[in-house]
Amino acid sequence: MAATGDFQDRMLSLGLARVSEAAAIACADHVGRGNEKAADQAAVDAMRRELNKLDIRGTVVIGEGERDEAPMLYIGEEVGSGDGPAVDIALDPLEGTTLCAKDMPNSLAVIAMGPKGSLLHAPDTYMDKLAVGPGYRQGVVTMDMSPAERVSALAAAKGCSTRDITVCVLERPRHDEMIAEIRATGAAIRLITDGDVAGVMHTAEPGRTGIDMYMGQGGAPEGVLAAAALRCMGGQFFGRLVFRNDDERARARKAGITNFDRVYTRDDLVTGDVIFAATGVTDGNLLPGIRREPGWVTAETLLMRSKTGSVRRMSYRHRIQ
Ligand code: FBP
Repeated sequence: MAATGDFQDRMLSLGLARVSEAAAIACADHVGRGNEKAADQAAVDAMRRELNKLDIRGTVVIGEGERDEAPMLYIGEEVGSGDGPAVDIALDPLEGTTLCAKDMPNSLAVIAMGPKGSLLHAPDTYMDKLAVGPGYRQGVVTMDMSPAERVSALAAAKGCSTRDITVCVLERPRHDEMIAEIRATGAAIRLITDGDVAGVMHTAEPGRTGIDMYMGQGGAPEGVLAAAALRCMGGQFFGRLVFRNDDERARARKAGITNFDRVYTRDDLVTGDVIFAATGVTDGNLLPGIRREPGWVTAETLLMRSKTGSVRRMSYRHRIQ
């Protein structure tokens, strides 16, 4: 069911950019220092602090984990001043902690906000994901197709050879077979070591990123964030939860999920209009990372609203003591 209701998205969007900026800037001192934990903690602290300044009655639905495993920004935590619209929030203060610690591309601070009930409460399991950018008919590629069939279908729709298609995939042993099958079609693969929110977002701007399609298994919470981004940027996203054991099935049940085989579309994962902000931590194809110079740091943010399809790129210079 579609979540409706004005949640003052226009007014809140600049505040949301401040939240992701704060998280990314807090990572400035941790980029390339080899300490994932410290980087993540700094991002979480800053994001929470800034989020609590917003006039919202917010609930974290995609966060740092269950209450017993994450002291801050846990699933169900109420955030904001307590005045203003009731909203659901999906966040990842540092998406790609290892990328940040190793100063590798595409680490981001990300947050999405929509009216209450608009975001799927995804359990902390894997999700099989498939995404393409805007401009194709709905269902041009599907979860039922094999990886090779998806490449052929997309090439036909794009009017090009399969050799002109580039697919982004997380480099994991679980994807070895899929990678071999994609390569056999002649398509190119951009392997990423982490950060599939950025990986999916890359499909929305193929001219800038060179990526036509994303596929493979990554975190389900990241799937909801990626779907929120594509709802703003345009593009199709499909996701199916993947369960490795009964504990993961129990997590899904607890999150209210009953159909374990369901293929979620972008708009099943994000059923209402959302606002989305991502700030670059390390350099990437979509966003530059944090720049440091004596006395200053500069951060660049992508700020988007699905209602209008507006995509803003904002550069913010921040004085440091
Ligand atoms: P973190 O930011 O928590 O390190 O997650 C990074 C990430 O690469 C996600 O982008 C992705 O969805 C997930 O981890 C993949 O999980 P795994 O490393 O278990 O394959």
